[in-house]
Amino acid sequence: MSDKRNSDSSKLWGGRFGSGPDAIMREINASIPVDKRLWREDITGSRAHAAMLAAQGIISAADAAVIDSGLAQIAADYEAGGVPEHIDLEDIHMQVESRLKELVGDAAGRLHTARSRNDQVATDFKLWVRSACAATDASIKALQSALVFRAAEHAESIMPGFTHLQVAQPITLGHHLMAYYEMAKRDRSRFADCVHRMNESPLGSAALAGTGFPIDRDATAAALGFDRPMANSMDGVSDRDFAIEYLGCAAQTALHLSRLAEELILWASQPFGFIKLPDAWSTGSSIMPQKRNPDAAELVRGHAGRILGCFHSLMVTMKGLPLAYSKDMQNDKAPVFEAHDLLDLSLAAMTGMITNVTFVPERMRTVAATGFSTATDLADWLVRDHGLPFRDAHHVTGAAVKLCEGRGGGLELLTADDLNTISPQLAVAKLCDLSVEGSVASRTSAGGTAPVRVREAIANAQQELAE
Ligand code: ARG
Repeated sequence: MSDKRNSDSSKLWGGRFGSGPDAIMREINASIPVDKRLWREDITGSRAHAAMLAAQGIISAADAAVIDSGLAQIAADYEAGGVPEHIDLEDIHMQVESRLKELVGDAAGRLHTARSRNDQVATDFKLWVRSACAATDASIKALQSALVFRAAEHAESIMPGFTHLQVAQPITLGHHLMAYYEMAKRDRSRFADCVHRMNESPLGSAALAGTGFPIDRDATAAALGFDRPMANSMDGVSDRDFAIEYLGCAAQTALHLSRLAEELILWASQPFGFIKLPDAWSTGSSIMPQKRNPDAAELVRGHAGRILGCFHSLMVTMKGLPLAYSKDMQNDKAPVFEAHDLLDLSLAAMTGMITNVTFVPERMRTVAATGFSTATDLADWLVRDHGLPFRDAHHVTGAAVKLCEGRGGGLELLTADDLNTISPQLAVAKLCDLSVEGSVASRTSAGGTAPVRVREAIANAQQELAE
């Protein structure tokens, strides 16, 4: 650690104190190990603030120029990986200001005019979360592209659709994958919505009450890409809705990923055998030489739990806090950073798995034909071609299923005569097509699984992704 004079934040605020803080006090107070990730936003915010102070005549143009070049130098140092971290400097804001003093001397002391760490940290953190939303959006979009690509390969591939995890009706693999495309689309719109709402600047709220200096909050808001300043200075320093919303969006996205992960885990298991994960996306067992485990998918599923925990953590931290800033709020960053990192990795892993997984359509088709999966097609046909009310058709079909089950097979064992025996007034001459291909092709309603509809959905998605 470098010399005490420069590395102790209490030198920046300790004028009214007789002694320095206890070692444990320093430790519990310090957020630098976590908030050093805000260095870029802190410097960006300070540069905008200093420029505004000079434009308003609150500090001299000469001081502002010195401050700005000093801050640019610190940014370059961080970029190059080289600003030593001092636990005694408490947080990133003190760290940067103290470094600025080392670099440019007394002018540094004018930077904090008409500002508090309370509006400073709210601004820095919001800038960070706003960028995180953009980064997450790009990662979700990459997953969407992978889903659409694989869906296009398998718009016709038949697989079983499940309800209650029981074979329900045949569907196409393309349709199944496109369902996740839609979830991802909503996830992206949630992040966009969250950015839209958060995009007001806290800077200029000062400690909580605003300031007597003639600052120009519109100017700093514009310089930092905000739509406008926040309307109330107390809300400005104590609002963390933006971080909570980010975590809510992240939790919802992670939840979707965990559902897809769960499907990959099931599909890769021997009783299903629907997919083979490539070597690059599997792990072995230290004792069972034959094993090939879907660890990445399991971790994506597991990460969703941790991300939800981060959301919960910040909600509970903020619950019941009186206005305005309280130090509890320093704990806002760790859950956001953790959730962001976990989600980022989960999205990358899921995109990698979806891109590289080998689907086994033959096996999927075989399973799709089990469990009397086209029974609904028989009932629908009795409605359409024989004028039965659906409830009666359901009943006749149920009896047909029971008959075939008694014969130890599926609906392929059913004959026209069987139906006439079940319900003599039907007078069926020829049975309808009960193949899985016929079933899937017939589901042409909007949003349905028929390959023609799936191809349309894929074309729409490709257009959306190109926009
Ligand atoms: N490190 C603090 C945080 O992250 C900065 C704000 C400190 N403000 C204060 N009045 N102590 O919340």
